[in-house]
Amino acid sequence: MKFPPAYILAIESSCDDTAVAVLENDKILANVVATQHVHENWGGVVPELASRAHLQNIVPTVELALQQAKISKHQLNAIAYTKGPGLLGSLLVGGTFAKAYALALDLPLIEVHHMQAHILAHFINDGQPMPQFPFLCLTVSGGHTQIVKVTSHLTLEILGETNDDAAGEAFDKVAKILGLPYPGGPMVDKLAQTGDSAKFTFPEPKAGLYDFSFSGLKTSFLYLVNREMNKNPCFIEENKADLCASIQQAIVTILVKKLLLAAENEGIKHLALAGGVSANSLLRSSFEKLKSKGFNVFIPPFQYCTDNAAMIGILGYFKWKEKQFSSYENPSLARFPMDELN
Ligand code: KG4
Ligand code: ZN
Repeated sequence: MKFPPAYILAIESSCDDTAVAVLENDKILANVVATQHVHENWGGVVPELASRAHLQNIVPTVELALQQAKISKHQLNAIAYTKGPGLLGSLLVGGTFAKAYALALDLPLIEVHHMQAHILAHFINDGQPMPQFPFLCLTVSGGHTQIVKVTSHLTLEILGETNDDAAGEAFDKVAKILGLPYPGGPMVDKLAQTGDSAKFTFPEPKAGLYDFSFSGLKTSFLYLVNREMNKNPCFIEENKADLCASIQQAIVTILVKKLLLAAENEGIKHLALAGGVSANSLLRSSFEKLKSKGFNVFIPPFQYCTDNAAMIGILGYFKWKEKQFSSYENPSLARFPMDELN
């Protein structure tokens, strides 16, 4: 029996990007991101400015996504949205819009966990090979760093995570120390391309078996910069690329080492990357190299690395198939531990 296609509208508003996607089953018809530039002058995301920008962006972004998908809102079958984790004000804008739109169109509502959605981006049907279950996913974003064992589209187990700063946060904080604009990760990545990654070394932080700790790394970076700037006020300017390459090497080495340890102990050969930091060129090339050790590696295309609504839509699709709909009364959650999902 052939089922009619499901058209899902997906809304992501957990941080500083207002993103809307339209899916036909597991295929993307439109994937629109309205990036908020208002934060660039502030060295980080200002929550109140983010909420206000989401309010301004949400309606035109939904209209643009529907236009690009070439479907009418009356053809939609469900609305998926990010329930959390994230900035509460931002989540509330996307969540309230999703609820109102679903109510007005009499459609089922599907709530989605942002980090689970980052992982599910690997199942967007765009001709790329997909990981087989069980696989390990290194989820690295501005707020999270986790090693996740994924056993089905909708079940997972967290094997390890950061005790303090996330990997993206570490990139952003060292960038700030160097006077680079927010978000610093892409800038550190770019400058690192011409730097010497062996010029500066940093002590490896101590953490549990599969856990991470990046705040100590940031502090030793800060101490190094302060110490050297006292001797030579041009130190940052003269060593920017080497500093970026060295700290990037330290962060990526820790990430890959812990993931490999978990893979070997769990006997898992399929490894995936997810989250904004998976756009990092050294992390991507280090992952590619794992192929020579017999691993199957899955690296998301750039448009699905940083925040987007296509990933919200694909998780929405798998929940739609299982009829996992949610109530209009469910709250948005700034803190939403992933181990509460199973
Ligand atoms: O997943 P994401 O877009 O948002 C969150 O859910 O947090 O991740 C954003 C994070 C930021 O910390 C940003 O600096 C980092 O991803 N990032 C990068 C790169 N591109 C984005 N970090 C290192 N290298 C990159 N190329
Ligand atoms: Zn994210």
